[in-house]
Amino acid sequence: MHAPAIRTPHQTATDPHELLHRSLDIGLQFKAGQEIFGRRSTAGQIRDLLVADLPVEPMTDDEVLADFVDRVLPLCKNEASPRFMGFGDTGDDQLALAGSVLATLTQQNMINQSFDSPSATFIEITVLRWLRELLGYANPSVAQVNSVWDVGGMITPGGTTSNTVAMMLAREAKAPGTMQSGIVDPSQFAVVVPRGIGHYSVKAALTWIGCGAHIIDVATDGFRYHTDELARILREHRGRVMAVIAYAGDSRTQTVDDLRAVHDVVREIDAKIWLHADACWGLLAAFSPSLRDKIDGIAEFDSITVDPHKIMAVPYGLSALLVRDPAVVRTISTYSDLIMQEDFAFGQVTPFIGTKGWMSLKLWMMMLGRGRAGLAELADHRHEVAKTFAALVDTHPRLVRLNNPDLAAVVFAYLPAGIEAGNLDAAELGRLNRLNIAIHARMLAEGRWHLHQFTLPDDLARLRAGAVVHPLRFMANNPAVTEAHMRDALAYLDHLALDLDGEMP
Ligand SMILES: Cc1ncc(COP(=O)(O)O)c(C=O)c1O
Repeated sequence: MHAPAIRTPHQTATDPHELLHRSLDIGLQFKAGQEIFGRRSTAGQIRDLLVADLPVEPMTDDEVLADFVDRVLPLCKNEASPRFMGFGDTGDDQLALAGSVLATLTQQNMINQSFDSPSATFIEITVLRWLRELLGYANPSVAQVNSVWDVGGMITPGGTTSNTVAMMLAREAKAPGTMQSGIVDPSQFAVVVPRGIGHYSVKAALTWIGCGAHIIDVATDGFRYHTDELARILREHRGRVMAVIAYAGDSRTQTVDDLRAVHDVVREIDAKIWLHADACWGLLAAFSPSLRDKIDGIAEFDSITVDPHKIMAVPYGLSALLVRDPAVVRTISTYSDLIMQEDFAFGQVTPFIGTKGWMSLKLWMMMLGRGRAGLAELADHRHEVAKTFAALVDTHPRLVRLNNPDLAAVVFAYLPAGIEAGNLDAAELGRLNRLNIAIHARMLAEGRWHLHQFTLPDDLARLRAGAVVHPLRFMANNPAVTEAHMRDALAYLDHLALDLDGEMP
């Protein structure tokens, strides 16, 4: 008598090759679509369509895929549509997509090297070294890389995690041993950020790691630190400041701070303050000889966050935290007798994360496929596209540009009829903000075009110095966007403004 064949619990008739090829075709076809949304519905409608009980009986593979295609996919946002101009990258590099698929299929676990990711760990190290070098951090020779503490960085899923790890490093530098002893005096963990343009992740990080939300904001000038004010604040709070954050590309305008000046001011007052550069966007400048000067001084900072998933055409998620002195990572390391007792186990140096997928493979493949020359081309092209859009804004009679693009973002506002740019009074400003909020709301509801919106201090005084504006933002990170798309987007704005301005009080 034969033993019964072992059946896997979920055995279906579909050939896995066929299923996965079909899924790939569905995904690629989705990305190639011209529209941002196949269908637009309210959150309540989508909830009622999708939130359901788990069925008792299994569905076939074909049924599951068809259900996804029919009910879920048409409601998904397609960032690769040439009408999507609002945020970061669209994740379209072919090798990056291939790397993403291969990382899934190979199922490496970056927590350990020896048995979990024998080669993948060294690909991760390679990518981290490439990023470090581009930014100007010195790398030890390959022969000197004998453990994860010689690498000088870690891969994380996003900029928020990277910034949080940076704040842990700052905390340990300020009060060594806090990892073990806990916070004793929260008042000594204040962090300095530029007013009105900081990213929420720093404040969130401080609350998550027990430091308390002790944020000190400093006045800005042209979306950069007002350095005299920075010096004054540091003197006023001497001894209390754990870190100063500078943006190499803030979240709103992508203005790159004067990093060398910030470094010099801070170091003159206090040699110990942790200097962190958030270069989620500004990494782009490291690729191009013509943009490199913008981030001059970044290599003097203690740590740098970069977000390849925002600017390097790789799919979500992929960020890295890099540190000037690789050894500092020891201050936040975790040791376990269960796993990770080996020199190259990244699990030891990556807070908050145990099991970790091979996120760096897509970047390794993308960077090899582009080389230094291709990366420079990518950066220059994006900056040129931003300048093209800025010129279109400048020649439009009803648009006012609110930033001078350092990288790929153009921030602008639509002027209501009868209002001229420059020194608006409160009533005019209110009307302008209401119009731009209404334009953006209508744009989101219709889903045909996408520009971003947020609040912004009018730091260049284009409307009224210091006013809080609700502008629109174009981002040049989508490779599918042509000048014709930009012109069409502006024509669409004209159409919305004509419609909405008349309705405004
Ligand atoms: C300057 C800056 N830092 C950090 C982040 C957070 O990055 P993530 O969304 O990858 O966590 C963002 C996101 O927009 C950002 O613009």
